[in-house]
Amino acid sequence: MKAITLKENGGVENLRLAEVDKPAISAGEVLVRVKAISINPVDAGVRRDKATMQRMLRPKDGEDTFIIGWDIAGVVEEIGSDVKEFRRGDGVFGMVNFPGSGRAYAEYVAAPADQMALKPKNTSFEDAAAAALAALTAWQGLVTNAKVKKGDKVLVHGAGGGVGHYVVQIAKSFGAYVVGTGSTSKRDFILKLGADEFIDYTSERFEDKVKDADIVFDSISDPDHLLRSIGAVKKGGRVVSIKANFGDEHLEAAKAKDVQAIRLLVKSNGEDMKQVARLMAEGKLQSHISAKYKFEDLPKAHQHIETGKTTGKIVVVI
Ligand SMILES: NC(=O)c1ccc[n+]([C@@H]2O[C@H](COP(=O)([O-])OP(=O)(O)OC[C@H]3O[C@@H](n4cnc5c(N)ncnc54)[C@H](OP(=O)(O)O)[C@@H]3O)[C@@H](O)[C@H]2O)c1
Repeated sequence: MKAITLKENGGVENLRLAEVDKPAISAGEVLVRVKAISINPVDAGVRRDKATMQRMLRPKDGEDTFIIGWDIAGVVEEIGSDVKEFRRGDGVFGMVNFPGSGRAYAEYVAAPADQMALKPKNTSFEDAAAAALAALTAWQGLVTNAKVKKGDKVLVHGAGGGVGHYVVQIAKSFGAYVVGTGSTSKRDFILKLGADEFIDYTSERFEDKVKDADIVFDSISDPDHLLRSIGAVKKGGRVVSIKANFGDEHLEAAKAKDVQAIRLLVKSNGEDMKQVARLMAEGKLQSHISAKYKFEDLPKAHQHIETGKTTGKIVVVI
């Protein structure tokens, strides 16, 4: 089968189209013929940097050729002997083995059945693949951890990006009041997603406009930004960080306001994936894809995600 392999960490030129063996499935897995793959910032991080690869892909001892990537949508072609939930021919999607080895950049992926969900009928393979890691991060941050509820005021940073555009929609589906931040060009997109207010971070300081959020969802790598986010939350609120770590200074500031500091690393979870699928089937959650690449052009998709300016999601079609 065709796959994109990586032998050494480094630039996009290290991603190579290759012929490799089709994976064999174990009892709890399904073999998925992949139709679309989505690209996340972590894909590029793992490609570039050995330490990130160790943390996120967790290679086996002696492994020297890697297939990276985690987000897939496709058709079930084979079923492991223990799998009851899916049948041959089902359209499925999910985030495979994250953190760990998903081996998603390939024509066929062996995926644990308990990490996948049925693709909703109203959703394309591309839109489904897009809504794996990024939508799961939004769900696990906002719902599982921060326990968003009707009437909450939710400040979403990077609201025009991969994760942020799902956070906005999931928060609205719970009846929250949403304020989204982004650069000037993202304004219309973020408001169309359903955000009630937009803050242009290139000309305004969000903490001047929001001081009483119930939840802040922070995806920015700057520790100072995270401290400012704690400043924008009200007493007893929650701050979810998916990027910067909470240091002593953050934890003290949070404690002083009785704010819950939540540092999230998304994890594969089929039950959460089904919640995402349900929202998509109900028309409450949509993927917005701003760029599609052919499989052989996957390195260009890495260059795109590395700009850090993505609108919605980037997918690769295979
Ligand atoms: N911990 C986890 O489990 C987890 C999971 C998923 C992602 N992440 C991390 O979260 C980050 C975001 O991921 P993503 O997939 O959403 O990335 P993305 O698709 O590249 O989106 C990032 C968005 O943030 C906007 N942005 C940049 N600087 C900003 C600022 N100062 N204020 C507000 N918006 C800003 C960017 O566009 P504009 O500047 O044009 O607005 C872009 O739309 C990445 O660092 C990723 O690695 C972590």
